[in-house]
Amino acid sequence: MKNVKNYLSENKDRFLNELIELLKIPSVSADPAFSQDVLDTAKTVKTRLEEAGCDIVEIHETAGYPIVYGEKFINKDLPTVLVYGHYDVQPAEPLELWTSPPYEPVIKKTKLHPEGAIFARGACDDKGQMYMHVKALELIVKTNQLPCNVKFMIEGEEEVGSNNLAIYVAENREKLANDVILISDTGMIANDVPSITTGLRGLSYVEVEVTGPNRDLHSGLYGGAVANPINILTKMIASLHDENNHITIPGFYDKVEELSTEERAEMAKAPFSIEKYQEALDIESVYGEKGYSTNERNSIRPTLDVNGIWGGYTGEGAKTVIASKAFAKISMRLVPNQDWKEITDLFKTHFEAIAPKGVKVVVKPHHGGQGYVTPIDTIAYQAASKAYETTFGKKPIPQRSGGSIPIVSLFEQELKSKTILMGFGLDSDAIHSPNEHFGVWNYFKGIETIPYFYEYFTEMTKK
Ligand code: BES
Ligand code: MN
Ligand code: MN
Repeated sequence: MKNVKNYLSENKDRFLNELIELLKIPSVSADPAFSQDVLDTAKTVKTRLEEAGCDIVEIHETAGYPIVYGEKFINKDLPTVLVYGHYDVQPAEPLELWTSPPYEPVIKKTKLHPEGAIFARGACDDKGQMYMHVKALELIVKTNQLPCNVKFMIEGEEEVGSNNLAIYVAENREKLANDVILISDTGMIANDVPSITTGLRGLSYVEVEVTGPNRDLHSGLYGGAVANPINILTKMIASLHDENNHITIPGFYDKVEELSTEERAEMAKAPFSIEKYQEALDIESVYGEKGYSTNERNSIRPTLDVNGIWGGYTGEGAKTVIASKAFAKISMRLVPNQDWKEITDLFKTHFEAIAPKGVKVVVKPHHGGQGYVTPIDTIAYQAASKAYETTFGKKPIPQRSGGSIPIVSLFEQELKSKTILMGFGLDSDAIHSPNEHFGVWNYFKGIETIPYFYEYFTEMTKK
């Protein structure tokens, strides 16, 4: 691969400005108020893929937001890489916690990004990382070095569960046929500690509703005499973990893959400072399941977390009231072999069973997906590893992540191919949070590394 650095340095400003333009469109898939913006983003992605060198780019309409499909097909005897990414973003709220407006991207220096980071919703998850692939294609096409076929599938509903993409994939197996899937929608350990994500957790997301009396009541006249749904809900939630922070749902751990002592020892070699971790989050101590390290707790162990809880009076001042209803949104992160539908059922059965008389409980499953593990003894992993070694000067460490991209296991099921997760974000980039950002250095490092993956993957496949 020649001229990668040259092409990059000649086009740096434009590459950055194009991403900034993309980040200005608020493509929030969860909120219908932004639907026109989401559609506009799909069109922009289509145009950018055409400019980068795709021969065919189509917008595929779905029952929800469109999927942008593109390809540059050079020869059927060459391997094909399918790039997946998403152009939708999470809602930016709470807006008052942003130091600059979420859709007015600015570059600011941070401790971990001394060369500057782009602050905007979607900068890292996933517009910035998805766009690295568009620019890597441009680089490799314009320098006449594309060694293989490339397909792009960029969706607009990842942050709301990818339901329509699942249908699209099942209906277009032949069109999407590939030798490997490449995704940049995860992170790495640090800029000087490159890593490749080898695992994603599964997810089961549920909403619960507890109803007590048929109307809100005066908390003096009725307090103490009827079940208060908020008291009950919080008590039920608290009982879902025991004193060792194990989850108490019967059967929850039955299928959990237990790692061998050797595998755990290997994992523990990844550089990690508990002091820095605590300091960055301003906490005096970490907290979690007994018997496991922090890195194990957030990757190879399943979890249960309340993501939101509401009910009763939360306005100014005080109102003495017992609310009729209380609600919570709960996510369970799952590990290999746990089936998300089975876990959802176990949760529902248990949560209904622990409800005391005097309240009614409804459990509404939202969405979910299976976990995923990438083997590292494959050509694709080896090619990725060599690509990082070329551009970082260091061999990357394989590391399982705590996050979820449920569609990845579906890709394996429907398309029978493995996924390589080449993430260039940092955990501290605040994805889904206020002040999300993506290092400028990371953006260019991604664009630099991707072409080498194509080169090595093609070379190693031919052998
Ligand atoms: N890109 C993230 C997932 C991710 C981030 C994985 C960092 C590993 C490291 C993705 O956009 C995401 O947010 N996924 C959701 C699940 C989805 C069903 C809404 C998640 O993990 O909460
Ligand atoms: Mn993402
Ligand atoms: Mn996300």
